Amino acid sequence: MQKETSLTDNYIQKIYEKWCKAGKKPKLKCVTYGCQANVHDSEKICGLLYKMGYEACESEEEADLIVYNTCCVRENAENRVFGNLGQLKKLKAENKDLKIILCGCMVQQDAIVEKIRKSYPFVDVIFGTFNLHRFPELLYTNIETNSQIIDIWQDAKEIADDLPAMRQHKFKASVNIMHGCDNFCSYCIVPYVRGRERSRPPEAIIKEIEALAADGVVEVTLLGQNVNSYGKGLESNINFADLINKVAKITGLKRIRFLTSHPKDFSDELIAAIKNNSNICKSVHLPLQSGSTAVLDRMNRKYTKESYLALVKSLRDAVSNIAITTDIITGFPYETDEDNEETIDVLKKVRFSGAFTFIYSKRSGTPAAAMDCQIDEETTKRRFDKILNALNPIIYEISQSHIGHTYEVLAEEPSKSDDTLITGRLDDNSLVHFKGDTSLIGQFVTVKITDCKTFYLIGEIIE
Ligand code: SAH
Ligand code: SF4
Ligand code: F3S
Repeated sequence: MQKETSLTDNYIQKIYEKWCKAGKKPKLKCVTYGCQANVHDSEKICGLLYKMGYEACESEEEADLIVYNTCCVRENAENRVFGNLGQLKKLKAENKDLKIILCGCMVQQDAIVEKIRKSYPFVDVIFGTFNLHRFPELLYTNIETNSQIIDIWQDAKEIADDLPAMRQHKFKASVNIMHGCDNFCSYCIVPYVRGRERSRPPEAIIKEIEALAADGVVEVTLLGQNVNSYGKGLESNINFADLINKVAKITGLKRIRFLTSHPKDFSDELIAAIKNNSNICKSVHLPLQSGSTAVLDRMNRKYTKESYLALVKSLRDAVSNIAITTDIITGFPYETDEDNEETIDVLKKVRFSGAFTFIYSKRSGTPAAAMDCQIDEETTKRRFDKILNALNPIIYEISQSHIGHTYEVLAEEPSKSDDTLITGRLDDNSLVHFKGDTSLIGQFVTVKITDCKTFYLIGEIIE
């Protein structure tokens, strides 16, 4: 495979010069849908645009270029994109120089690209998840020809992991350790739109994190669809536990997080690494999906209710205060009320600190979409409400258990609802709001928890 950075640089330069000649500082608005992988891709897209002379702005109305980085994991994610694209048509009519870019997972599907070609001709550039690094060339071609440019690849022909990223935060960063997914959970479209699992060489990852730490980053999140299978296919014999042990030794890193762990590959070595390194956060996102072994089997998850509970026990035996969060899908084909009760049983046994709860969404092309017994909306909604009614009181009780305790908190941003408050995170990833000013952002402060709601804590700084 070949690195394409120099080619990319050439087009970046050409666009940069165009704007210099025009004597204008162009504005960009990037809207990201979906998971951390997309958020991080957007940081790279913005990094490229930044080098082309663009600067970020708040609203779509003032932008010269709008990027929609899309997700297709559930149907409502796609509907939101189409709804918002409809709105952009008006903006484009008012400003014909506005550039509209559509990229990400959604456009890896042929039917979607066809629909955009037919019904959204005002979209300027469309590219997928495998050729983000070619975006400058595609944009340049669009500027030159003023025609819609579509370039979707089906696999990762070239590797370009060293693109500049425009980080959202100075003090924390995400780092891809792998791309794609080989698990083919039967409901999930990710393996089709993100391709086969590819681990990045450890040397490249460590070098990237060392540079981030030297730049003042104190927290990194290692990203992959299934970080626990890291290392497969690499020349060096290395697994995720080895990698995270190496990362933990990098000077200056105070917090290391990782997303996402598949329960089937969570090793004892990884549990030991979490236990033995004080800078690996005591929090794990461990998607359950369902507590019923029969449903898990149809989902192709490759673990059982019992093995999931046994893993949680091993984690808690080793690290008693570890916070565990999860993902749950309700209404998977053939699911029964009894299956739902099994899920509720697991919720009560594990006592999750948080959960993303989803209603099953049929994704065309996945094995589950072809299953006979799809569950009707009313039944799914009833089961979904039952799950929430079991889950939320547990989450609230866990929040309450923090009251009166004092924690080291990383101050992250001004609170969205009250600008006299700062929002930060505990090591266990709990959110806390406390009085303070923006000069604290990026620093660790000691906070005593005084109160809580279900999904966040309230505290005060202790001098
Ligand atoms: N690789 C990660 C997560 C990927 S998608 C993992 O396996 O944990 C994030 C979550 O979206 C999944 O955990 C699952 O709960 C949910 N999800 C994926 N496909 C879905 C679908 N078709 N319908 C509803 N939820 C889905
Ligand atoms: Fe989808 Fe399963 Fe891969 Fe997660 S592990 S991305 S749920 S196929
Ligand atoms: Fe969505 Fe793509 Fe992530 S489908 S969940 S943005 S990998």
